[in-house]
Amino acid sequence: MTARPARPPVPPAVDVVAASLYDELAAARARRAAGEGAPHVLDVGGGSGAWAVPLAAEGCEVTVVDSSANALAVLRSRARDAGVADRVRALQADVDALAEVTDGVHADLVLGHGLLEYVDDPVAAVRSLAAATAPCGLVSLLVANRYAAVLARVVSGRVGEARRMLADPAGRWGPADQLLRRMDTAEVTALVEQEEALTLERVQGYRVLADLVPEHAPDAGAPGDLAELEALAATTPPLRDLASRIHVLARRTGD
Ligand SMILES: C[S@@+](CC[C@H](N)C(=O)[O-])C[C@H]1O[C@@H](n2cnc3c(N)ncnc32)[C@H](O)[C@@H]1O
Repeated sequence: MTARPARPPVPPAVDVVAASLYDELAAARARRAAGEGAPHVLDVGGGSGAWAVPLAAEGCEVTVVDSSANALAVLRSRARDAGVADRVRALQADVDALAEVTDGVHADLVLGHGLLEYVDDPVAAVRSLAAATAPCGLVSLLVANRYAAVLARVVSGRVGEARRMLADPAGRWGPADQLLRRMDTAEVTALVEQEEALTLERVQGYRVLADLVPEHAPDAGAPGDLAELEALAATTPPLRDLASRIHVLARRTGD
């Protein structure tokens, strides 16, 4: 039997969330007057630093607020390993206490990635994020998509969980589900629209198609095809609305 020729693996897809954040940091740098220093990022529910450490490596001053001491210990160690410990401040607190722990600091970019799925009151959490954002700064929300979670359960053969998740108003598969909620695009958008201090700027899907391409695809396309496809799908409903996570950007009013 002749061995199949090795095909190149599927190239990594563009990360539409990171691309949006890096664009925003460039804009924040431009907004800052000379001598004002690096942009300030506040990462609420930042956990072990998946976003915070790369943003600090980009030169930002990053404050991470998280309720978990363990996650913050991992964050400190990752920041040390990456050589950015002096640019990462870790504060243990609940989002409810954001104003107190951050001492009224207003950040250029405020992240709530993977946070709204866990908080008791998502409306109050979005209000706290908005209040911690500098005038004209940006809030970035990344939330688990209930429809993508249903599809993922079905393809892995967990049909009962998928049915319960789809029927449940909070998108949970049962009382033991670790997430308090999953959302759809309309729900995340409505959360932002009801916060007076914010103006909705962008709604996009994070990882719409890239995870569906087999590792050795018969037609992986030209270099850049998957990245372009992913970027296009990220803003094209209904594909956008099936992404594994929903990404919403909202601008803080100028005050
Ligand atoms: C799924 S992780 C997300 C981590 C990171 N933001 C990311 O996107 O990779 C959720 C994080 O939110 C934190 N968290 C959950 N509820 C919180 C709350 N009420 N206030 C602050 N942090 C919270 C958890 O400790 C955890 O580190």
